[in-house]
Amino acid sequence: MSPEPAPSLFTLDAMQFFGRVATDYEAMFAIRLANMKGLRVLDCPSGPGSFVSEGHAAGVRVIGVDPLYAQPLDALVQRGSEDVHNTISRMRANASRFADIDLDAYAHSKLRALARFASDFEQGSIDGRYVTASLPNLPFADREFDVTLSAHLLFTYSDPASGGLLPDSPFTLAWHQTAADELMRVSRRELRLYPTTTRSLRPCRHPYAEAIADRFRSLGHGVRYEPSSFARGNHKDDTLNACLVIQR
Ligand SMILES: C[S@@+](CC[C@H](N)C(=O)[O-])C[C@H]1O[C@@H](n2cnc3c(N)ncnc32)[C@H](O)[C@@H]1O
Repeated sequence: MSPEPAPSLFTLDAMQFFGRVATDYEAMFAIRLANMKGLRVLDCPSGPGSFVSEGHAAGVRVIGVDPLYAQPLDALVQRGSEDVHNTISRMRANASRFADIDLDAYAHSKLRALARFASDFEQGSIDGRYVTASLPNLPFADREFDVTLSAHLLFTYSDPASGGLLPDSPFTLAWHQTAADELMRVSRRELRLYPTTTRSLRPCRHPYAEAIADRFRSLGHGVRYEPSSFARGNHKDDTLNACLVIQR
């Protein structure tokens, strides 16, 4: 008999249009913007986050991709704001599970990311910093980016039975493998994926992350988990908190 899946932290009704600030990206991916000046970086999905704008200001040649960028700015801001409030109220309803996160500061930081995204989006779209596209098909050449970053889509939005947050998720293992191949195709140096654990009360390595790591290893890529300092609520118990780094 197969073991019961560990209980989820919580589940979501739908994909959230949710973004983060650059310091969150630095913590998630164990990177420093200051060390990335001049690099071509892909952030996919970018959501209503400020990494593209902050990276651009820091001299990084960063492009953000999201399917929702086809929508007008006012619709993006409305959706982004609603989704921050939805997510925070879900977290507040399960506050004991997020004991190591200051939820007021968390909400404030997401709204700050949204405001900075909004101030950059129109000019950034004209300049080519924001691109509408959807995994597993990216409109970029092979190895166009030095580094590709992908957070809170793969693994997070898988079905709860596999350790994700989205009931009836369309993001199967096969989808994950195709999406990871596509992210790697456009990466010259490396791909970083975060998070890599299940969103359950007793987190373990997400089985799709293990499958992707094994596959890239078998193809001869360098594969490792690099510790992340990003707080996820159950961080204290989450000794596996790390991003998956796949190198050429
Ligand atoms: C929770 S946000 C993550 C944004 C950001 N990376 C972060 O960590 O804050 C998930 C994003 O994935 C986008 N998304 C949904 N389906 C996608 C797909 N097939 N390919 C790329 N992005 C997708 C959504 O529009 C949403 O903005």
